[in-house]
Order: sequence, then structure tokens, then C-alpha cells
Amino acid sequence: VEPLRVAIAGLGTVGAGVIRLIDANGELIARRAGRPIEIVAVSARDRAKDRGVDIARFDWVDDFTALAQHPRADVVVELVGGSDGPALALARATLKAGRSFVTANKAMIAHHGLELAQAAEAGDAALKFEAAVAGGIPVIKGLREGAAANEIERVYGILNGTCNFILSRMEAEGRDFAEVLAEAQAKGFAEADPGFDIDGVDAAHKLSILASLAFGTQPAFADVAATGIRHVIAADIAEAAALGYRVRLVGIAEADSHGLFQRVHPHLVPLDHPLAHVTGATNAVVAEGNFVGRLFFQGAGAGDGPTASAVVADLIDIARGEFGPPYAMPAASLLAGTPADTGER
Ligand code: NDP
Ligand code: HSE
Repeated sequence: VEPLRVAIAGLGTVGAGVIRLIDANGELIARRAGRPIEIVAVSARDRAKDRGVDIARFDWVDDFTALAQHPRADVVVELVGGSDGPALALARATLKAGRSFVTANKAMIAHHGLELAQAAEAGDAALKFEAAVAGGIPVIKGLREGAAANEIERVYGILNGTCNFILSRMEAEGRDFAEVLAEAQAKGFAEADPGFDIDGVDAAHKLSILASLAFGTQPAFADVAATGIRHVIAADIAEAAALGYRVRLVGIAEADSHGLFQRVHPHLVPLDHPLAHVTGATNAVVAEGNFVGRLFFQGAGAGDGPTASAVVADLIDIARGEFGPPYAMPAASLLAGTPADTGER
């Protein structure tokens, strides 16, 4: 059986995690995928950096253009980050070459998801981004596949692990914002620029992707009203607790006859709501469908293992020949979809 051959760009928290996961679970993955998944080439900035995994067995490719055209790779995995720049150039070059592309890069999908979906469909290639939203939680597959038969009325949740880690540590241990942020960075949860986390931008990227899947519109990051947690202080958390609430950064997308509303901001969540009990770098997503009812997804929202798990799940899909449209419907329908199409609610 021919393996699925993979080239990886980016060998940081997530990239090294993917190598570790495939090393550890390779045989199980081969049985589930029907064929082995084999890493053949890797790329990052610094070839000499110790990444805690042996990369000498893979081809090292300095240039992303060459990586996109690597003679042995069937699929390129992008774990670099950034909405534009080298990540986007790599995505375009890979899909133009008719190769499948897997990414954890929510910023790029939020800004360029429609274009990349069109390129994938034009080249009969797969575009997969399970790891881009809510880390290890299979929420993209949940909406794209599991809930595909439903009208989705509302999707909301805790979408940023770093912010949830900060808020819940401040609340449980009375610790200082900056100190807990530094800990989240050390654990590999935060974005390269943690301002994306604490200002709500990362959660807005993810919400726009979820909204696109839920409502059949193209990702519209610019339409998300986002406020982060930068200004939340210990006294806010203590006052909320005294009133029976917890502070959580929540993203909400809902459609009604007036349009699609997407917003991210700190919420006072009552203690009897499950989101109040989501702690640490955990994420949770609630989706309400007209036949399935209320779905609640919860799990690790950041970190090497959970994110690698989502990336490799996408590779398994591709190894099995699952090449359907990246969103819940073809890109042409997303383009045509308007919030008003979601009808009366
Ligand atoms: P890291 O910063 O740990 O790793 C980034 C990698 O990209 C590094 O190996 C770096 O090379 C490489 N890189 C950066 N810029 C360039 C460049 N210009 N040319 C070549 N290589 C480059 O990031 P993460 O692993 O944390 O994140 C990767 C992606 O996954 C991002 O899109 C992030 O948003 C997303 N993500 C991250 C999660 C997490 O928990 N960390 C969870 C879900 C998604 P070098 O090592 O040589 O410096
Ligand atoms: N920085 C992101 C977070 C990583 O903290 O949620 C996972 O997407």
C-alpha cells in the first residue's frame, strides 16, 4: 500500500507535536487510515534548532516554494502561522499544484478561507483546517459532517485557550494577569503575538470560521465585533464571583432575519451554565441545530498534543480519500450565501 507522504512547514509547538504523534501512533493510524502516513520533508527557519524530535531522517527544505513542489509529497501541512506572508504563499502554491493542504492557521482561514477553498476545489485537492478552531476538539468535523443536516440557529463558546487559562487561574488562585499570560506562553498556548489572544482577535478568527460553517456564508472576520480581556482585573473577577458569575471570553454567532451577528467579548456567565465550568486552556463550543438540538463540544483548546491530534485527523481523512468541499458546502454556494438566506428564526 502506498503511504500518504507529507511535507511539514513549521516545527514549533504544533509541528513538533505532529511528528511526535505520528512516531507514537503510526501503526494505529495506518490501520485506521488504510495506509501509513509518512513524513518525507520538513521546513522551518532554523535548521539547527533542537526541537526535541529527530528531524535528520526527513528532507530539509529551506524554501516554501520548493516544499510545495516536493517531488515525494502528496500533502503539505502548514504550521507556521500568520494570515498572509509565507503561510499564504505556501497554501496558494500547494493548492495550485493540485496538492492537498492541511493547516492549523485560523488567521489565514479567517482572511482567505474562501479563496483557498476555491483553489482546492479547482485542483481536486483537499483543504482541511480542523486544528484551526478549538485545538483538539473536532468541531469543524462536528459542524461540517455531524450536524450537516441541520439549520444551525446559533453557535457560541469559549474559543481561546490562553484567555480561558488566564481567567480561570486569576479566579482560582488570585494570580496576576501578566504572570499567568507568561505561563500560557511557556506552555505553547499563546500566539506568536499574544495580543491576538488577549485582545479577542484569535477568538474572532475562530468564530468567523465556525459561523461560515454554520450559516453557509464566507468567513467574514471583518464583521466580528471583538473585545478581549486585556482590561479585566482581579476585582472584576471577584465581584462577578460574589454575584454568582464567572468571567469568560465568549464568541457568539447567530443569524436572524436581520442578518448574521458575530461578537466576541468578556461575558458574565452564570454558575449554572456549563461554560462557567470550563477551566484552564479548555475550549467549549455549543451549536444549536433545528433537528439535533443542542450540541456541546468540550476539550483541550490549545497545546501540542491536542492540536497535533486535530492535524493528524485531517491527514487520516485525506489518506482515506475524503476530499469533499472544505466547508459544509461548495465554495460557490458560500459566495452566494448571504446572512438573509438563513431565513426566519
Ligand atoms: P510556533 O511559533 O511554536 O512555531 C512556528 C514555526 O514556524 C516554527 O518552527 C518557526 O521556525 C516556523 N516559522 C515561523 N516563521 C517562519 C518563516 N518565515 N519561514 C519559515 N518558518 C517559519 O507556533 P505554533 O506551533 O504554536 O503554531 C503554529 C500554527 O498553529 C499557528 O497558525 C497557530 O495559530 C496554530 N495553532 C497553534 C496552537 C497552539 O496551541 N500552539 C493551537 C491551534 C492552532 P523556527 O522554529 O525555526 O523558528
Ligand atoms: N493561541 C490559541 C489559544 C491557540 O490560546 O487558543 C489555539 O488556537
